[in-house]
Amino acid sequence: MTDKRENWSARSGFIIAAIGSAVGLGNIWRFPYIAYENGGGAFLIPYLIALLTAGLPLLFLDYAVGHRSHGAPPKAYKNLWKPAETLGWWHVSVCLIIGLYYAGVLTWAGSYIFFSIGQVWGNDPQHFFFNDYLQTSESSHFELDFVSHLFWPILAIWLAVMVILYGGVKKGVELSNRIFMPLLVVLFTILVIQAVRLPGAVDGLNAFFTPNWEAMKDYKVWLAAYGHIFFSLSVGFGIMVTYSSYLKPKTDLTGSGMIVGFANSSFELLAGIGVFAALGFMSHAAGKPIDEVVSGGIALAFIAFPKLISSLGAGADLFGLLFFTSLFVAGITSMVSILEVPIAALQDKLKWGRRKAVTIVAGGSAIISITFFSSTSAIKLVDIIDHFINNIGIVSSALVSIIMVSWFRRSLMRELEIHINHISTIKLGRIWELTLTIVTPTILITTLFLTLNSIFHEGYGGYTQSMLYIFGWGCIVFCALGALLFSRLKDR
Ligand code: ALA
Repeated sequence: MTDKRENWSARSGFIIAAIGSAVGLGNIWRFPYIAYENGGGAFLIPYLIALLTAGLPLLFLDYAVGHRSHGAPPKAYKNLWKPAETLGWWHVSVCLIIGLYYAGVLTWAGSYIFFSIGQVWGNDPQHFFFNDYLQTSESSHFELDFVSHLFWPILAIWLAVMVILYGGVKKGVELSNRIFMPLLVVLFTILVIQAVRLPGAVDGLNAFFTPNWEAMKDYKVWLAAYGHIFFSLSVGFGIMVTYSSYLKPKTDLTGSGMIVGFANSSFELLAGIGVFAALGFMSHAAGKPIDEVVSGGIALAFIAFPKLISSLGAGADLFGLLFFTSLFVAGITSMVSILEVPIAALQDKLKWGRRKAVTIVAGGSAIISITFFSSTSAIKLVDIIDHFINNIGIVSSALVSIIMVSWFRRSLMRELEIHINHISTIKLGRIWELTLTIVTPTILITTLFLTLNSIFHEGYGGYTQSMLYIFGWGCIVFCALGALLFSRLKDR
């Protein structure tokens, strides 16, 4: 059979797209608020440890699986071991869920680009964000009241993403990354340089870079780090498996992985520096400690930055444009990668053409996403779904893919290692094997156990049990059912 799978035009196309996927809302929107909520400086060390003990080892595993098996996760895992196809569909389901709310946050970023001009948020960005813009319902129960000014932007975002996806791997995904990623680097570098020059910035940076040993004793800081690293690197839920499946046979996988991992973490640190410098500036201006000038949480980027931008006087418009355009551009390239997973999976399984797969996957997701994320419950749903899907959905899928090869099919792990070492510059060896066999599974099993324990006993974020059941557990059940049902589909 001739293989009609598309390829990247060159290794550089893959690296740029993989960086484009990794660097996203996770780095600029999620990382700073997770770091902020977990003690600022306390978070950096667990984050780096999570990167080394779980993120990078899994990145190499994902690359090996996708590249060797030449398919999106269901096909790739099935090629390795037949029953593992179910795991691949779990990845696909996780991506489908993430795509829904990712578009919601992208919509906010896109709208804030325009709000930056003249600082539409006025004197109280917090009130503006929750009440005027999102029109968040006061009720603790779920409401689906329509917010018309969220509707058009989210529709536009879905259409834009579909246009890129229709273009295919080379002319859509790769080309958009080749345009957007250099733009992002330039915009974001200017932004961070501006931020660190602000008066008081250094206090914020001290808060970010001073390790807080006391806070590090809190296991939740560690859970947050491990719950974030996979999302951030785009590993453990199929993206890197899919992207590496489009690589040509002889490609240096570990070398590419090191570049992608390094670029992603650099971006994350850069975003942390930018945000904490801005917080330092605000605390300096208000004469109050950092934790009193802004509340944390998922709204941090949409409250702290507008506050900061408003206080900048002449440079305000430009600074706002830089920040929100960066957030938006980073997010679009990741959103494309998230949807590429289900699209490629259905193309593999049902032999659908690109156009059909994009229309059904992205079109169907768009309808659901627009319904929920142009409603008065948008931010609550983002918060709940993001927490459950990262800390349970992705951590468990990462764990299963790791123990599958390191505990149950050790011969596969050897095969994958030989495959990688045959074509790559940096060779994997005992350290990689030991990490994946003992260190990562031990940490992830503990993480998962503690997360579940905390959710069962304390709930999450003060939401009602019914909200958590429907949207939190509902997403996990969707992933499980998706995995089981899709894997029963017959190959075409
Ligand atoms: N890796 C992507 C992000 O960080 C999903 O946003």
